Amino acid sequence: MVAATQGGEQGWSSRTAFVLAAIGAAVGLGNIWRFPTLAGENGGGAFVFVYVVCVILIGLPMVLVEIMLGRAGGGHANAIGSVADVAEQSKVSRKWSIFGGCEVLAAFLILSFYSVVAGWVLNFVFISGADFFGSLFSGAPLAGAHVGEPQEAVTGLMGELFASPWRMLLLHALFMATTLGIVAVGVHDGIEKAASWLMPSFFVLLVLITIYGAFTGDFARALAFLFTPDFSRLSPTAINEALGQAFFSLSLGSAALITYGSYVGSDVKLAPTAGMIAAADTGVAILAGLMIFPIVFTAGLDPSAGPALIFQSLPIAFQTMPAGALIGFAFFLLIFFAALTSSISLLEGPVAWTIDTFGIARRPAAVIVALASFVVGVACILGYGAWSDVRLLGFWAIFAETDILDTIDGFTGKVMLPLAGLGLSIFAGWRADRRLIEAQTGLTGGAFLLWRGLVAWLAPFAVFLILIFGLFPWLL
Ligand code: PFF
Repeated sequence: MVAATQGGEQGWSSRTAFVLAAIGAAVGLGNIWRFPTLAGENGGGAFVFVYVVCVILIGLPMVLVEIMLGRAGGGHANAIGSVADVAEQSKVSRKWSIFGGCEVLAAFLILSFYSVVAGWVLNFVFISGADFFGSLFSGAPLAGAHVGEPQEAVTGLMGELFASPWRMLLLHALFMATTLGIVAVGVHDGIEKAASWLMPSFFVLLVLITIYGAFTGDFARALAFLFTPDFSRLSPTAINEALGQAFFSLSLGSAALITYGSYVGSDVKLAPTAGMIAAADTGVAILAGLMIFPIVFTAGLDPSAGPALIFQSLPIAFQTMPAGALIGFAFFLLIFFAALTSSISLLEGPVAWTIDTFGIARRPAAVIVALASFVVGVACILGYGAWSDVRLLGFWAIFAETDILDTIDGFTGKVMLPLAGLGLSIFAGWRADRRLIEAQTGLTGGAFLLWRGLVAWLAPFAVFLILIFGLFPWLL
């Protein structure tokens, strides 16, 4: 059907396959690691409220834009080719594809640190797995990970990992190799198969742990924390974070949705599919909050602990709760599944571009991109050790204090994703051929006008303002 699916391969075998893969792309570390962390740091309910508004008014319409551009892009499986093709069909400059280029580059960069963080998750999969199986075989009650050890020993697990660049490197390599192994096999036999196993397993684990937390943890307090908005705690930076998080979590601005969209058959209705992706992603983020905060509150931990929440605070809770070894293991396994389906989509975008651009086969293309991204990830790891003084964008106030990983994370999330979103919303809203787009989305009448209004007016305006104030906070 399309160039990156050469070699007799087909696109998705069904609409369900596409929906699962796209939800797999969206649901990831962003939902389980970043969303609760950001909500915790920004006062809970008010942040959740702004986040949901951003998803409905900007994120969801943009998901449809990206999938639609992918499918409309006449046989190109890569973000640049697709946008260029739609521009050509619309008789406007092919230069709009520069925003597709921004997406491919963003995906490559995000993958580099995403794999490092997913390596930390793997570290805890192994530790909690060893604890779980250890207690199974020793006949000890499943009382918790590292039973009987002082709390510092558990808190120290993260420190130990950070003090060992080799361990981080190995885990990063293991995760990247797993992602590569799946993408190299292809869309149908690799990406689709992985999603169809991992996503259902993910959902079962998520629901089970949340139910467990609801019965054993402080569920009422978690509900109040997530759903009672205290708008006095809402700063402009928090709004900027909410929009950036919406983009990151929905996998916008990073080639994944355009590329996945290009493998979709012409019979699939895109608008309801976009709705399902956005709803599932937001639902999982909120469920993840409802899974994590009861445990956090019951164990008397600080909800605003920041990025350490998952890796440092929760293992303490697992140590003391009933069946903690089992829950801890299931919890980290769940994050690993979510991270893997996302990293697959991050790799696929640049790989599809490499296949199309250099005319090489999928396997070598996947190896080259994964290796290059791995190397950038190594720089992120060195940022915790030998290169801890390196400030990549030190001249820029908002990045003056951030290490390599946080700088790449911040630059892609705060600059590149919104910029690509800004460009493509203007392109889809103003420049692309209206009839072409209308036919692709399948929307008619008022629904089409509403969608186009949001894409043409609200998205560029809101994203522009948030970009400006997020990047130059002193303007406020
Ligand atoms: N949406 C993923 C998450 O929330 O973890 C991250 C991600 C995947 C971002 C794919 C961008 C992307 F293209």
